[in-house]
Amino acid sequence: MNHGDTAPAPAAAMADIFMEISNSKTASMAVGVVPAASAATVQSDAAKFIFFCWDEGEGHKSPQAWRPREVEIGEPKEGEIRIKNKSIGVNYVDIYYRTGLHHEHLPFVPGKEAVGVVSAVGPGVTGIKVGDVVGYADTQMGTYTEEQIIPAILAIPIPPSVDHITAASVLLKGMTAYVLVRQAFKIQAGHTVLVHAAAGGVGSLLCQWANALGATVIGTVSTQEKAAQATEDGCHHVIIYTKEDFVTRVAEITSGKGVHVVYDAVGKDTFKGSLECLMQRGCMISYGQSSGRPEPVPLSDLAPKSLFLGRPGMRHYTTTRDELLHAAGEVFAGIMAGVLHVRVNHVYPLHEAARAHAVLEARRTSGSVVLLPGS
Ligand SMILES: NC(=O)c1ccc[n+]([C@@H]2O[C@H](COP(=O)([O-])OP(=O)(O)OC[C@H]3O[C@@H](n4cnc5c(N)ncnc54)[C@H](OP(=O)(O)O)[C@@H]3O)[C@@H](O)[C@H]2O)c1
Repeated sequence: MNHGDTAPAPAAAMADIFMEISNSKTASMAVGVVPAASAATVQSDAAKFIFFCWDEGEGHKSPQAWRPREVEIGEPKEGEIRIKNKSIGVNYVDIYYRTGLHHEHLPFVPGKEAVGVVSAVGPGVTGIKVGDVVGYADTQMGTYTEEQIIPAILAIPIPPSVDHITAASVLLKGMTAYVLVRQAFKIQAGHTVLVHAAAGGVGSLLCQWANALGATVIGTVSTQEKAAQATEDGCHHVIIYTKEDFVTRVAEITSGKGVHVVYDAVGKDTFKGSLECLMQRGCMISYGQSSGRPEPVPLSDLAPKSLFLGRPGMRHYTTTRDELLHAAGEVFAGIMAGVLHVRVNHVYPLHEAARAHAVLEARRTSGSVVLLPGS
């Protein structure tokens, strides 16, 4: 989906919308102290909404252990808003929480990204009203739900020209791509970059962004179909790393020089080879572990080529309101300018979240996966 016909909403303008919230008495509200929707936080006097969780007990790591629950969400308190979700982004990190790679007490509501319509506004919140379309990403757990209460300062206004499915598929992944190419390692024209899982949700956006910045992009993927997508997304060279040795291929492509930066979210299966692909003073950006956590690497392994190693998390680059809105603004600007083509390749009803997890985990997805509540 492309939205090239509208001028981008400047990040500064978005920041203005929330200035009042930040400056009001709700500014003392600590972000993150309000828990995700759960049986413990609901009140009894509001309408009932469905949410979903991975339950306690044996087998909770399987997608099939997913259970719907009906709870009363209640009314937003001071500094909070209630959002009726329209689209929910599925991210690989949701699998880490389900399988226990990232810890969360059971039962819990999964999900780190959603876009919806504000259905109630708590006391003290200004600059946002019922009916506004907002998104939220990464900071708030529990988005696999029809309705959720969040701190207002986490809400990101969605430009009218970006539909809710596109927005929910690109907020978290797009802001991550922004952080990777513009903050964690600043890509410049002439750089050569290696992107693993180049047809994935983040990978697809990362390749497009790196290409737009003037880099030569080498992508790795598991299948021919994914290779075709990666080429469309701006990869100058695509390596099918399930069939070819990517270290050897990168050496051939770069005439032995290596790449300036590797973006590696595959982890265990690729990490060591990624270090081998780097040129002298190259930069290893490890930002995920879809194949498992990489083995520990002694610092001395970086010495032979004076390598840099970073392990960035998007949330640490979007800590303040200004940073968050700036990152989101960069993503929306990229969409509106036609630089970022958002691939929403898999859409499921919310009640089929287990299916969405199963295909994502089995490497059978490309681009983004989205859940639709109420369908
Ligand atoms: N640091 C951060 O702030 C941050 C933020 C967002 C996401 N991430 C990370 O970015 C990565 C991508 O996230 P995403 O949601 O966009 O997922 P995704 O890339 O759409 O899906 C994961 C991809 O990883 C590849 N993969 C390689 N080995 C795998 C294995 N053994 N099992 C499963 N997948 C394997 C697959 O691509 P192929 O089939 O082509 O191999 C698969 O499609 C994840 O590792 C996530 O944790 C990090």
